[in-house]
This record gives sequence, structure tokens and C-alpha cells, in this order.
Amino acid sequence: MDTETIRRPKIVVIGSCNTDMVVKAPALPLPGETILGGTFSMNPGGKGANQAIAAARLGADVTFISKIGYDLYGLNAVEIYRSERINTEYIFTDPKHPSGVALISVDYSGENSIIVAPGASRSLTPEDIDKAEARIADADIVLMQLEIPVETVEYAAAMARKYGVSVVLNPAPAAILSEALLHNVGVILPNRLEAEMLSGIKVNDEQTAWLASRAIGNKGIGDVVITLGRDGAFVKDNDEYTMIPACNVEAVDTTGAGDVFCGAFSVCLARGLPLKECAEFANTAASIAITRIGAQSAIPYMSEVNLAIGRQRRETSGDTESADY
Ligand code: ATP
Ligand code: RIB
Repeated sequence: MDTETIRRPKIVVIGSCNTDMVVKAPALPLPGETILGGTFSMNPGGKGANQAIAAARLGADVTFISKIGYDLYGLNAVEIYRSERINTEYIFTDPKHPSGVALISVDYSGENSIIVAPGASRSLTPEDIDKAEARIADADIVLMQLEIPVETVEYAAAMARKYGVSVVLNPAPAAILSEALLHNVGVILPNRLEAEMLSGIKVNDEQTAWLASRAIGNKGIGDVVITLGRDGAFVKDNDEYTMIPACNVEAVDTTGAGDVFCGAFSVCLARGLPLKECAEFANTAASIAITRIGAQSAIPYMSEVNLAIGRQRRETSGDTESADY
């Protein structure tokens, strides 16, 4: 995608800001089990923040609406967002609760398990959303997840719809959602487990992804994209269904892969590309992220995604000699 010649779409991301406490280990611990792990690192994260940075690095003008505690974790995070040229005007401070933290285990195959202590994210209220009404009204897309109160997500989705702004929802962590919320969502982007929670169908292959996407669609959302980890993604665009195979890469750390997918997808959607093309672009962007450690540090820039797409096209056409563009 040529970013120089096209307008930067305006995306408002509403969601969490966390600090990720990450331990690498040979395997993820079972309930009741203690295991000896490897290295520890502390990195910026949070589904909201990761998606905001992904959208910004991939060419959008991003406003991030979030809440931090009155602490260094939160202040450092805001500095990072500023350095990514994200509008931080609507990042509020909660004097009573600490900034969000996520405890993350990553095994040697790159798989993870995560517990989030949302802290201040839990006090992002509809009143906070009111303060950003003008930004929401002016956006191309509002992108949200569920690490903030669902009432706030419902309120923001209704506000966006009032202004004709399309809502993209990544229903993570998994939750049962109200009809009122689903009615205001344009595109929903669950992973396998979230799709199962929404549809009641266990998703383990293309057939079950098709069934689950139809069941979710029957709740009133025309467009459903289920991310399937190492199996890629499944797209339901009204009555058209497409399986997008994953890129062939070696996974080092899949933390935040879904966030990169959502941010990348939203940038393409805001530019008016068809759903399938948005998902293909997002699939490539997410595949780059999983080859690197961390959530935000792994998020690719547009030039990197373009290079990967060029490489894939040459591989498909059998031309492996010409240079990357
Ligand atoms: P996370 O919670 O770890 O951020 P998620 O569960 O929300 O991720 P996934 O469905 O696991 O999301 O992955 C999102 C996307 O990342 C996939 O649709 C795919 O494009 C890419 N991806 C994830 N794992 C792999 C893999 N092993 N190989 C290639 N691509 C992958
Ligand atoms: O999706 C990955 C993110 O989930 C991590 O950065 C962690 O903070 C949790 O919110």
C-alpha cells in the first residue's frame, strides 16, 4: 500500500493500557503447578494500546482513549504513545487505582497465557467518552476491545453509530455481549475462544469457523473475522466466506498477534478496502509480529508489511530473483 499518496484515516481506539510482566518458560504451568522459567521482562502492553500503536505504525491518525493510574507505569506508557504520534489528549488519570498490569507466561513455541489486573482501565466511564465526543464523531473507525467496562464499550458504540462511524470490536477477553452492543458493531474480530463464547460452537477448522461466523452473523453483525492463530483467519463478509491461510513463519512470541491483526485490519477498512483484503493485510502484519519478542516492540511498520507482501507475491508467482520494493 502506498502510504505517501493516500490520506491517513482517522481511527479512535478506546481501551486498556497495561504493563506486561513476561516470563519465558519451557511450558505453560498447569493449575496448581510451579515451574522454573527462563528470562523475565517488563514491557508496555494492553490490548487497547497495542492496537492503537499498530494502527499508528501502519498509517492511521490515532486518538487513544484510555485511563492510567497516578504512577510511573502509566506516565511511561503515555510517553511511548506520544513518541508514536498518537493523540493522548483523552488519556485520563485515576488517582485511586494503579495502571493496568498483565502477568504473561510465554512457552518455547511462542504460545502464551495472560492474566490482566485492569486497575485504572476499569474506571474508564461513559462520562470520559463524552469528553471525546467530537473526536469520535470525526473518526473513520472506532476500534474497541473488552479490557475496559462493557458499559463504556456499549456507550461508545452507540455514540459512534449516532454519527455514522463504523465500529470494529475485538471481543477480548471473551465475554457474552448484549444485543444492544452487537447491534452497533460493524465488524467483529474474535479469536477462536471468543468465537466459541459468542456462538456456542467450538472452532477448530474451516468448517466450524464457517458455522461459528454464521451463528455470530445471525446475532445481527454482517461482517465477522475469526482469527485462527497458526491457521490464519476466516472471513465472513455478509454472504461471502473466505479462509485466509496463515503465513509460514517461525513463532517466537504470539503475544499481541491479535492486536496487530485488529489494528492493521482497521487501517485498511478505514481506507475502504474490501474485508478480505483487510484480513489478508492484517494476516501478514500479525505474522511479522509473532517472529519478535514482546507486544508493542514486535509491531511492524508499513514498509515491513509491504516488503513481506512483495515477497509473498513473488513466491506465489515463482519469481524469487527480483529485489524487494
Ligand atoms: P493474542 O491474544 O496472542 O494476541 P489472539 O488469540 O487474539 O492472539 P490469534 O488468533 O492467536 O489471536 O492470532 C492472530 C493472528 O496472528 C492470526 O489470525 C494470524 O494472522 C497470526 N498468527 C498467530 N499465530 C500464528 C502462527 N503461529 N503462524 C502464523 N501466523 C500466526
Ligand atoms: O493481547 C496482548 C495483550 O493482552 C498484552 O499486551 C496484555 O497487556 C493483555 O492486555
